[in-house]
Amino acid sequence: MSSPHEGGAPGAGASGASPGAPGADAVAPVVLISGAAGGIGAAAARRFVAGGWRVALSDLPGERLDAVAAELGGVERVAADGGRAPDGGASGGRAPDGGASGDRVVVAAGDLRTKAACDEIVAAAVAATGRLDCLVSAAGVWTEGPAEETREEEWERVLDVNLKGLFFLAAAAIPHLARASSGESWSLSDQKSPVLAAGEGAVGAAQEGAEGAAGARAAGGSIVNLSSDAGIQGNNGAAVYCASKGGVSNLTRALALELAPRGIRVNAVCPGDVETPMLAHQADAYGGGDPDGYRRALLDAYPQREAARFTRPEEVAELIWYLAQPAAAPITGANMSIDFGLSAGV
Ligand SMILES: NC(=O)c1ccc[n+]([C@@H]2O[C@H](COP(=O)([O-])OP(=O)(O)OC[C@H]3O[C@@H](n4cnc5c(N)ncnc54)[C@H](O)[C@@H]3O)[C@@H](O)[C@H]2O)c1
Repeated sequence: MSSPHEGGAPGAGASGASPGAPGADAVAPVVLISGAAGGIGAAAARRFVAGGWRVALSDLPGERLDAVAAELGGVERVAADGGRAPDGGASGGRAPDGGASGDRVVVAAGDLRTKAACDEIVAAAVAATGRLDCLVSAAGVWTEGPAEETREEEWERVLDVNLKGLFFLAAAAIPHLARASSGESWSLSDQKSPVLAAGEGAVGAAQEGAEGAAGARAAGGSIVNLSSDAGIQGNNGAAVYCASKGGVSNLTRALALELAPRGIRVNAVCPGDVETPMLAHQADAYGGGDPDGYRRALLDAYPQREAARFTRPEEVAELIWYLAQPAAAPITGANMSIDFGLSAGV
């Protein structure tokens, strides 16, 4: 069934930085990553930093997020969801030691289960960096168990993080991503080389550019959602998680259509089993006291048989990175499997 809506009208109003706003003179592209304290989110953050982008890290506030931020260096604390910055404020208070345009990494912590929190996280990230070129939604939680034993609170927890939060983060990011795609230069000082111009010129410039701060380019605004093999096939015993990831995969397609007229690409990556804290939690919580047996059972389903292994988070990060690059300009509405063929069929 098709939707009667043909997609968003152009010109919905960009609300990025104005001249003089924090970061307005900085031209390195910016990615906001949810779940940045987790395995895949942190790996993605490392990849974008290595590629010369600036990164806004978002996750639940706490030591794990602080550790990733400290590892990547140059933290400017911005506040969302309770105010982490010394000067508080949910819309992007800045620590006294934070130099906005020079910092490569900022933190916009928050619990993304409400629309209000998603709005605050995006606003805080943009207030600190002055722009937004890519949103990577890597926050997520796993659950499994018999359907008839599923508590309503568990359904809400999983759907609120994996689907609702992901959607409202994307919604809040749209005006900023549209600005990134508009061809408008964000720079007051670098008008010769508009790093955000959409179209052939930007693609050519990026292909010629060396990787690193000087060569960092975005392909206009884009969104990369973390779906799963469970978004494109059923996982026995994990109906709630599958419902959330099936929703992610299909809203990715719908948003890609809606946002294409505004130059925003929307894709999903669909990993199989990735060696992260989530997988460790799965094995511990649902392995019946035998986490190694749980892990072996997962690998037994892989077509590689004895040679099967779990995907590494940095392998997923490389695909996420690619999808944000100018070389991926024709790719939108895609659900890209990275699962050793796990979802290719039986
Ligand atoms: N690890 C896998 O095998 C695997 C496979 C397929 C898809 N995925 C998906 O990839 C994404 C990243 O997974 P991962 O393996 O890195 O997991 P992870 O558990 O290492 O990281 C997930 C992060 O999400 C954060 N998070 C959870 N609830 C939150 C909330 N309410 N607000 C803000 N942040 C919240 C967590 O704090 C955590 O840091 C998830 O969407 C996951 O479903 C993972």
